[in-house]
Amino acid sequence: MSRAELFAQCRGLIALRDEESADFDTTCIFQDMLGEKFPMFTPKALVTDEKAAEILTLAKRRSEGYPLQYLLGQWEFWGCNFRIGEGVLIPRPDTETLVEQVLDICHKKGLKAPKIADLCSGSGCIAVALKKEIPMADVYAVELSEKALYYLRQNTVLNGCSDIKIISGDVLKRETARQIAELDILVSNPPYLTAQDMSELMTEVRHEPESALFGGEDGLDFYRVITEVWKSSVKDDGYIVYEFGLEQHDAVKAILERNGFRDVELKRDGAGIIRTAAAVKR
Ligand SMILES: C[S@@+](CC[C@H](N)C(=O)[O-])C[C@H]1O[C@@H](n2cnc3c(N)ncnc32)[C@H](O)[C@@H]1O
Repeated sequence: MSRAELFAQCRGLIALRDEESADFDTTCIFQDMLGEKFPMFTPKALVTDEKAAEILTLAKRRSEGYPLQYLLGQWEFWGCNFRIGEGVLIPRPDTETLVEQVLDICHKKGLKAPKIADLCSGSGCIAVALKKEIPMADVYAVELSEKALYYLRQNTVLNGCSDIKIISGDVLKRETARQIAELDILVSNPPYLTAQDMSELMTEVRHEPESALFGGEDGLDFYRVITEVWKSSVKDDGYIVYEFGLEQHDAVKAILERNGFRDVELKRDGAGIIRTAAAVKR
């Protein structure tokens, strides 16, 4: 069949679930499966039966709510490509706000070679973006899940950042925090969904690991424990920079202040939601 016919079939399948994303998702699947940036420049070109069947299988899975990003096995963040799959959180555009806030601090403070730890690193998207922007930075990435570590290791290498130091460990334990001292910046996008959020997840998000999403009954467990356990790893005048969920900013600010961090600055994401906080240790 022709590409145009196949595109219409795939689009139709995906549109049954989500009309708005059907064009985009189908285009991404075509790009990936045909290995071309603009596959629909040649709509009359024929697709073999075998290839068409493979493409239709992906469209069908997508129409059932399987995440596009996992189907493609890769996703872009901060202009870099990240390998992803089941077991690792899909990098979100919101998280670019966190990267921006860290870069703002480095710029404002003239930090050319900061020591940075990215806790709960997942795919490594934050650590890699920061290392790309500040090549002289000494970057650590800490992660517990073996599945996530598999992608994290690949992504540092694929993005030319193999000098990021990866630590396999539990960020909630003091023995992990003791491995890194004198940090200029601790950055983290930890699991922050509440028990209520977890009961209302979209089908797509249900495919992502619960251990990357659930932050305890009120979603704040990681902020409470990380701030307490890691504060002595942050140098005086060093920073903690956190990403969090909708309406969690006041609670995260209070946790930071209770632990001796001051001058909390909140930042909104592209959708206008207060998404990150930075605070200095004084
Ligand atoms: C919300 S995801 C963030 C991933 C990535 N930083 C990002 O922004 O896309 C949280 C990550 O924390 C990891 N994680 C959960 N519990 C952890 C723990 N106790 N110690 C270290 N990492 C943990 C999960 O495996 C997951 O990769």
